[in-house]
Amino acid sequence: MIFGLERKHFVDPATWEKEVDRIFSKSWNCVGRRESLFDHCGANAFRRIQIGDNDIILLQQESGQVDAFHNVCRHRGTRLVSEESGSLKNACVTCPYHAWTYRCDGKLIGAPNMKDVESFDPSDFGLKRVGCHDWCGFIMINLCDVTADFVTDFAPIIQQMQAWQMDQLELVTTVEYEVNANWKLIFQNYSECYHCPTVHPALNRLTPYRGATNDLEEGAFLGGPMQLSDSSETISTDGKRIGEILPGLNENQARLVYYYTLFPTMFLSPHPDYVMAHEIHPRSPGRTQVLCHFLSKPKTSTEQIQRAVTQWDQVNREDWEVCELTQLGVQSPSYTPGPYSHLEPMLIAFDQHYRRVMSD
Ligand code: FES
Ligand SMILES: [Fe+2]
Repeated sequence: MIFGLERKHFVDPATWEKEVDRIFSKSWNCVGRRESLFDHCGANAFRRIQIGDNDIILLQQESGQVDAFHNVCRHRGTRLVSEESGSLKNACVTCPYHAWTYRCDGKLIGAPNMKDVESFDPSDFGLKRVGCHDWCGFIMINLCDVTADFVTDFAPIIQQMQAWQMDQLELVTTVEYEVNANWKLIFQNYSECYHCPTVHPALNRLTPYRGATNDLEEGAFLGGPMQLSDSSETISTDGKRIGEILPGLNENQARLVYYYTLFPTMFLSPHPDYVMAHEIHPRSPGRTQVLCHFLSKPKTSTEQIQRAVTQWDQVNREDWEVCELTQLGVQSPSYTPGPYSHLEPMLIAFDQHYRRVMSD
């Protein structure tokens, strides 16, 4: 028998801090969709985001490229930007303390009264850069290594998602949730359909729970396809598609819905006619913010995709309810992990990856 994670991994503040240090500070984190992050920000747009104790400024350059920097002055460490989002005056960031000024590319271009300081070279004191990659509109941040190569690190899932041509899809709508559960319970819930007959009777009619297989079985990316039932074309309230089958898919892919977890902040669920993406923002050991995005062909209206959104909103809420009940259960000092079933291989793989990343 293989058993699940112990209680401390869901409730203990020290374990949470270790996760911030070992996982969130060292992985690619999805921090949002570009359209949502820079909505109404205008030219020289900035947006602040938080990962653990790291406050990060995202800057959208004139070219459209997004760069990320630590929001920390290189003089005496003052927080540079306090607004959540907006537009940079003169395309510069000026420190509110002694007015050191940084250009949009992070370069220090003004440091009053510093020129007589021996050996002071402004080029040594630009803003500290953070790894940043725009993946088909998902802004991905890597705190630990500015040279980290997203395309290499994400190669297995990029390869798997190729047929859906995500770069050709547009965000249609987003639904936001606050879940009172640890982020790993949300990952584990998404990674099995053992619970589908009890928790999701409607979903189970569209994709019967025994039709699941996996094609990514170890490491940071896990999951695989589920068969649609004979009477279903996609996941929506009536099982009918919301639009055409996406152009890159073969006959086989058009009869499947895929479920992938991207450790530690994302799920991707490509359907025959749309892609659903969950952004997972762990906020504390017992609280997680979840954003659920729906992407489809350009010009897909929110009305058109509504049958998919309504069906998934129901499934999401059903899932959050059992995740919250599980959080309440594992908080009990009496909790000890039980054995996994044969329908939970991706949880065993998730736990293995998690334990490896967390190990000393
Ligand atoms: S702390 Fe920023 S200029 Fe002094
Ligand atoms: Fe579920």
